[in-house]
Amino acid sequence: MSVSILQETIASHETPGEKFYPPFVVSPELEAEADDRISHYVGNVRSATLPLLHIVQHRFGFISPAAIDWVAAKLNIEPIKVVEVVTFYPGFRQSAPGKFHIRVCRTLSCAMGGSHELMERLCELTGIDRSASDPHHHPISVSPCGKFSVEFAECLASCGTAPVCMVNDHFHDGVAAEKAEGLLAKYADQA
Ligand code: FES
Repeated sequence: MSVSILQETIASHETPGEKFYPPFVVSPELEAEADDRISHYVGNVRSATLPLLHIVQHRFGFISPAAIDWVAAKLNIEPIKVVEVVTFYPGFRQSAPGKFHIRVCRTLSCAMGGSHELMERLCELTGIDRSASDPHHHPISVSPCGKFSVEFAECLASCGTAPVCMVNDHFHDGVAAEKAEGLLAKYADQA
């Protein structure tokens, strides 16, 4: 499968957030980390698909078509098998998020507690336009400066403290819309 077909399949597109992540380059360190992970799946290397994709996303911010080709080659499987995994799990990103990626819970408790109003306020403050987003192909919307991005997420397992969100790996609860400005201020000054 060619890269151009992959690009169509996984809805990859450029975002202003890319400047905060290194371009996908296969370094000796990346090869070594992947080989080590694959060594745990002798006899069933295809099961290393998820671990390898996590490595790629952690290093490069998202899963690019070139990364899909590389993972497929490492595991000696068809790229479409990797595409199936990337497109099945919402946790795998198909385009670069911002430097600070905000996942806002939209499940019942948080929706009733104001998560949609929180999302609206975050977009208003960061200049993010979500009009082109859709939950399947373009769930992530990035600010023009690339520093912030937003995405709706399903239950983040803190329903009693709704509405909640995560900024990268940091959890924030009780984030009503009027607290959005303070939340962004915690990150805005970080280089
Ligand atoms: S509904 Fe939002 S954390 Fe569960």
